[in-house]
Amino acid sequence: MASIAIIGIGAVGSLLAYMARRVKPTVIYRSRIYGEAIRCFGGLVVQFGDEDRVVEVDHYMVGDAPENYYDYVFIAVKAYDTRGAVDEALRIVRDNGVIVVVQNGVGGLELAEKMAASRKPRVGVAGGVLTYGVTRIRAGIVAVTGLGKLIIGYRRRKPDERLMRVKEFLEGSVRVVEDIEPYRWLKLVVNAVINPLTTLLNAPNRVVVEVDSIWRIAEMIVGEALALIDKLGIKLPVDDVLGYVKRVAEATGNNISSMLQDVRAGRRTEIDFINGAIVRLARENDIDAPVNSLLTLLVKGLEEWRRI
Ligand SMILES: NC(=O)c1ccc[n+]([C@@H]2O[C@H](COP(=O)([O-])OP(=O)(O)OC[C@H]3O[C@@H](n4cnc5c(N)ncnc54)[C@H](OP(=O)(O)O)[C@@H]3O)[C@@H](O)[C@H]2O)c1
Repeated sequence: MASIAIIGIGAVGSLLAYMARRVKPTVIYRSRIYGEAIRCFGGLVVQFGDEDRVVEVDHYMVGDAPENYYDYVFIAVKAYDTRGAVDEALRIVRDNGVIVVVQNGVGGLELAEKMAASRKPRVGVAGGVLTYGVTRIRAGIVAVTGLGKLIIGYRRRKPDERLMRVKEFLEGSVRVVEDIEPYRWLKLVVNAVINPLTTLLNAPNRVVVEVDSIWRIAEMIVGEALALIDKLGIKLPVDDVLGYVKRVAEATGNNISSMLQDVRAGRRTEIDFINGAIVRLARENDIDAPVNSLLTLLVKGLEEWRRI
C-alpha cells in the first residue's frame, strides 16, 4: 500500500485527505491546534452539505514525521508558503517518490522543481489543479462548497508509472494528464480575472459579467495573459477563453472569491502568484501587461492599507 503524506491541512489539504482516506494518509501541520482538533474529533471533519464525514489520519507537526518514508507527498499550502512546505516534503519523501503541488497560481511548482532537482533529483515533482470549492470552517473542519476535478501532471512531460498510480488511492474525479501547463494556465487566467476584480470591488463573482465596464477590464486581463501564454508556447485546453471565464463567473456568481475572503480576513493574498506572475513573466518575455500590473499594485496596496 502506498504511503501518502499531505502538508498543510487547510481547505485543500483536508479535501485531499478525504480523497485518500482509503490508505489512511498522514497529515502534517505547523500549528499544534490542528493536532488537538484531530484528537478531539477522531480525525479531520469534511462537511458535504449537512453531512459530516470524519477522515481518519495519522498526524505530525512539521519536522516530526519519519524521514525518507513517503511514496507520495501532496503540498496544499498557499503559494507564498511553498518554500517551507517543500523543505519538509523533501525531507520525508522517498528518493524515488513523488511530490504533487496542489496550488493556484504560477511560481510555487517551479520553486518545488528547483529545490527537488538540487536535493533529491529522482523525486518526481508534479502539479495539481483543483476545481472543487472548499472552505475552512476552523482547524480540523472544512466544508466542500462545490464539486469539481483534480487534474495532476508534470510540467511539459508525460506522466510516468508512479504518477499514474495516484488514481489507485485517490477517490473522486481525478485525471492524470500529459502536461499540466495548459490546465494550470487556464485556471490562472480565470483567477487573474475574478480574484482582483471582485476584491477591489468588494463584490461577488458575478460583478465580472454583470457590469459592462468591469467585463471590459476582464477582456484586457485575458488579452495580456493570452499574449504571454502564446509566447510561452502553451496551448490552452479551450479555444474560447473569454467564454470560459464568463461561464465560470456566472456558475459561481454568488461566491465570494478566495482573494476577497483573504482581504476581508486581513490575510495575505496570492496576488504575486496570479496577476503578479503574469506581469513578471510578461516582462521576461518582452510583452506589455499594464492592466495586470495595475491590478497587482492595487491589491497589494489594499493589503497594506488594511494592515495600517
Ligand atoms: N480552497 C479552495 O477551494 C481552493 C480550490 C482550488 C485551489 N486552491 C488553492 O490551494 C492552495 C491552498 O489553499 P487552501 O484554501 O487550502 O488554503 P488554507 O485553507 O489557508 O490552508 C493552507 C494550510 O497550509 C498550512 N501551512 C502553510 N505552510 C505550512 C508548512 N510549511 N507546513 C505545514 N502546513 C503549512 C497553513 O497552516 P496555518 O493554518 O497554521 O497557517 C494552512 O492550514 C492555494 O494555492 C489555493 O489558492 C484552493
